[in-house]
Amino acid sequence: MDYIPSENRYTGEMLYKYCGKSGLMLPKISLGLWHNFGDVDDFDVATDMIKYAFDNGITHFDLANNYGPSPGSAESNFGKILKTNFQGYRDEMIISSKAGHAMWPGPYGDGSSRKNLMASIDQSLRRTGLEYFDIFYSHRYDGVTPVEETMQALIDIVKQGKALYIGLSKYPTDKAKIAYDMLKAAGTPCLIYQDRYSMFTREVEAGPLQLAHDQGCGFIAFSPLAQGLLTNKYLHGIPEGSRAARSTGFLQRDQVTDDKIAAVRKLNEIAEQRNQSLAQMALAWVLKDERVTSVIIGASSVNQLADNLSTLDCISFSSEELEMIERILSTVNIQMPK
Ligand SMILES: NC(=O)c1ccc[n+]([C@@H]2O[C@H](COP(=O)([O-])OP(=O)(O)OC[C@H]3O[C@@H](n4cnc5c(N)ncnc54)[C@H](OP(=O)(O)O)[C@@H]3O)[C@@H](O)[C@H]2O)c1
Repeated sequence: MDYIPSENRYTGEMLYKYCGKSGLMLPKISLGLWHNFGDVDDFDVATDMIKYAFDNGITHFDLANNYGPSPGSAESNFGKILKTNFQGYRDEMIISSKAGHAMWPGPYGDGSSRKNLMASIDQSLRRTGLEYFDIFYSHRYDGVTPVEETMQALIDIVKQGKALYIGLSKYPTDKAKIAYDMLKAAGTPCLIYQDRYSMFTREVEAGPLQLAHDQGCGFIAFSPLAQGLLTNKYLHGIPEGSRAARSTGFLQRDQVTDDKIAAVRKLNEIAEQRNQSLAQMALAWVLKDERVTSVIIGASSVNQLADNLSTLDCISFSSEELEMIERILSTVNIQMPK
């Protein structure tokens, strides 16, 4: 039977928040397609996750040119899912993509040059079958390309109608400042800044989070569950089929360290006292910061999505809970602000 989105998709728990000082609202929970949507993955599960997400108010889907594997296949699969199930719903969706990491052979398939960005967005539009992206990101500062070259390419992409808004991801603070100023002066201010942020990875607290806020830019946290570590998944070892166990996953076995698992067990006890799963508490912990617009979660099943969506039932913390969490995190070798 043909899929018809739930009529209740905007009456549930999902909360929307203005992205920085823009007029665009994003759901507090967004869905990323980095893992589990490639051509090595189960297409029916991927389809069910997109449907479930949309039925429950997730309007924002985060892609990049290289997501797969194979690179590009997450965009192609998402395009197929849209074409088959979501005709007529494009205006209810925010679809993001990015360019900047290695994608095709030769000197132009990687980095943040104008050549790479211009070619990449055309490829991404073809793969997804979209006429435009809502948000197009420079995926990273590549260490060589002048920020001005990358920003001019993004400004021109917006002028060409291929994207509505510009985003930046993983920029050092000094480079981000140059970028924000240039984008603002061109009348295409940066909508959103995307970086890694979770209880286990807190470097953004040292600058990028506040800088985005000061610039009137939204902040979106990726890998808020530390790729699954901040869930009940690894409490008793590395289960079969998990990201750390899969050869195509970016979470390496040696990142599942004893000190992290010991901390995860203690964090899990606090989550239980809050009547939450650990995943829910980890997402709530990131969302408690007013400067954070949304978290981009990954998921490998509809059940995980359902679990994560229930985060929104309880996103506040008592000061005692926050202190207990800080004490636990202080026992772990985690990436903290320098
Ligand atoms: N800008 C960038 O450079 C950048 C980099 C990385 C990611 N991102 C974006 O951020 C998105 C999310 O990243 P991520 O996938 O690393 O996020 P994440 O939410 O930290 O990790 C997702 C993984 O955690 C596990 N999980 C999720 N919910 C769970 C639950 N309720 N219970 C148990 N396990 C659960 C699943 O692992 P299993 O697969 O093992 O089940 C899932 O694949 C990406 O898809 C991408 O859009 C951007």
